[in-house]
Parts: sequence; structure tokens; C-alpha cells
Amino acid sequence: MSLGESGETTYSGHVGSDLQDSFGRVHRDLRISITDRCNFRCAYCMPEEGMTWLPRERLLTYEEIERIARVLVERYDFDSIRLTGGEPMVRANLPVLVEKLSSLGVDLAITTNGATLAGAAQDLADAGLERINISLDSLQAERFFELTRRDELDRVLAGIDAAVAAGLAPVKINAVLMNGINDDEVVDFIEFGREKGVSVRFIEFMPLDADDNWSIDRVVAQADILDAIAEVHPFTAVARNNDPANRYVFDDGIGDFGVIATVTDQFCDSCDRVRLTADGQFRTCLFATDETDLRAMLRNGATDDELAEAIVTAVGNKWAGHQVNNVLFIRPKRSMSQIGG
Ligand code: GTP
Ligand code: 5AD
Ligand code: SF4
Repeated sequence: MSLGESGETTYSGHVGSDLQDSFGRVHRDLRISITDRCNFRCAYCMPEEGMTWLPRERLLTYEEIERIARVLVERYDFDSIRLTGGEPMVRANLPVLVEKLSSLGVDLAITTNGATLAGAAQDLADAGLERINISLDSLQAERFFELTRRDELDRVLAGIDAAVAAGLAPVKINAVLMNGINDDEVVDFIEFGREKGVSVRFIEFMPLDADDNWSIDRVVAQADILDAIAEVHPFTAVARNNDPANRYVFDDGIGDFGVIATVTDQFCDSCDRVRLTADGQFRTCLFATDETDLRAMLRNGATDDELAEAIVTAVGNKWAGHQVNNVLFIRPKRSMSQIGG
């Protein structure tokens, strides 16, 4: 890589190396959104009537997804792929994609709302899925309904049990906390996780909701979450690796939990992720305001070298980190369900 005249990083044809940005961060983790559609309407994510969904022809096919993933795995040693949505399980024939990607030999995971997982967990495990994260923002049926606009708590709970039974491990539960809405359930979630043998991760609410309703007053800060848990179950922090979650194990040896503190404890310094949207746009950050159109390249006959060149250039221009806590913060044009979480 070298710096072009405009100061932009340009590609010099070298492959088989680390995919590094100008801050020295090496990238090995690919998040692939496979659909922007969802069968829930979480109030903090989507309007009740849903969004304008991408037309089918704009979605990458499974073959196109596999091709981009293969370039990253074979040329830049990517070792981790996560499928997201919208809700990835609404896309037809998901085990077919799982099988294709698992043959690349990476740590393969999925993030789902769990609504249809009970009937699918075993097929996904058989196709090569290794681990799973399941979103669950309330353990109370009425509140679950208010939050998701779907009366499906029992189905999600059955999905969690099915994931454990299918041997997916670890099973992680993602709970987005919001002040005055579900912040009183922190300890209930912790007891749930310890009982079921699953890891709960509490997520600070981020400004990526479709309705633009985010405000700092709604964020439940990591410090408050930790205080609430420490009162009932003492815990110790453990190494975080490159994951977004700060991790903790309980001192009595029963289970662990995490906190994803995007707002109060930014973790961009250790970011090793890139993203592919369902319509084939390559993004170097969840909050990025620009994208690289790999779908157009694929459909115009680009070679693997040309795809790699575009990817290297985009990563070379990756920014240091998001500005959520700064007046300079610019919301990405797309919301979470369109980017892929
Ligand atoms: P693990 O590999 O199991 O740690 O998964 P994960 O936590 O990276 O993925 P998951 O899809 O479960 O996402 C959990 C939460 O972390 C969601 O709210 C994501 O939006 C958020 N998240 C994932 N990656 C990033 C990131 O790079 N930056 C920020 N700020 N949040 C992220
Ligand atoms: N802030 C934080 N997390 C969010 N998620 C969706 N929208 C937001 C937001 N605005 C979570 C979902 C899911 C994961 C993919 O992202 O609950 O667990
Ligand atoms: Fe669907 Fe996830 Fe958005 Fe809820 S948060 S509406 S489950 S994409």
C-alpha cells in the first residue's frame, strides 16, 4: 500500500498480507448482513410498518457472498464470519449459505432474534454453524410485546433452549438496555443466564435507530449495569480480546456476562471488523458514513484482484473511531437493520 496524491491510500497489488488500516489495526472479522428484512419490529430499531425493503435483485446471492468472503479469508487470513440481518433467519435456505461459509474454515456465527430458531437450530449446527447470539430485551411477556411488537417471548425462549440442545456454543444473549424501559431487568437477566448456562451481554443503546429517537438519557451506562450486578453476584473482569464486549466471570464460578459499552467505553482502538451489507456495500465501521459498492464490481465482472484492491483501499481509509459522544457525530444514512448490527 502507498499514499496517493490526494492522501488516500491506494493499492499496489500486494496480496497475502494483513489487511491493515493506517492506525495499524489488522482486520480478521467479517460481519455479513444477508437481509434487511425482519419479522420483529423492535421499537428502538424499526417503525411498526417496517421499512422499505431492498428489492431481491439488489441482494447479494449466496454465491456472491461466498466469493467476497473467500477473498478475505484466503488473502487476508480472516478467521471469523458472523451473519446478521435485519433478521438473518428470514432469508430462505440459510443452511446452504452456512455450509458454503463453514467450508472456508472460519469461526462461523450468527446473530438472530431467535423467533424461528427452535425449528432451525439443529439444521444450522449440522450445516457447520458453531455459535450463536440471540437478541432478547425483556424476560416479561407483556414488555417483550411492547418492545418487539410481537407476542413471541415463548418462541424465543424455546429457540434459546434449542440452540443449547443443538450444541451451539457459546450461546450469548444480547439485551439492549434502555432507561425507564427495561433497566430494572438486569439482575433477572443475570439469573436467567446462570440458570440456562448462557452468557448475557448488556448493550448500551446506540444512535442507529430508524426513528432517530436516540438520546443520551436513554442509555443505561456500563457503570450502572455493573453496580446492579455486583450487589447480588460478585464478579471479576477477564481479558476482552478484540470483542466489543467487556467480559466478566462470577466469583462463585457459575457463568459469565458481558457489557457492550459503545457509548461510555469506546472500543474502536481494538476494532478488527469490516462489514458487508445485504446489498453488497463494504463498510469499515458500523457508524461509517461511506461505503464501497462491491456488488456493482461483482456484477461488472471484477476479478478477485480488483475486489481485493477496492477492499484494501477502503480499509486503508478507515477512520480512528466513531464520534457518538461528540457534537461532530454524523448519523450514518442507514439504520442498524440496514447495516447489519
Ligand atoms: P461476538 O463475536 O460473539 O462477540 O459477537 P458480537 O458481539 O460482535 O456480535 P453481535 O451481533 O451479537 O452484536 C452485539 C452488539 O454489538 C450489537 O448491538 C452490535 O451492533 C454491536 N456491535 C457489533 N460490532 C460492533 C462494532 O464494531 N462496533 C460497535 N460499536 N458495536 C458493535
Ligand atoms: N443500539 C444497540 N443495539 C442495537 N441492536 C439493534 N439496534 C440497536 C441499537 N440502536 C442490537 C440488536 C441485536 C444486535 C444485532 O444489535 O438487539 O442484538
Ligand atoms: Fe428486527 Fe433486530 Fe431490528 Fe428487532 S433489532 S426489529 S429483531 S432487526
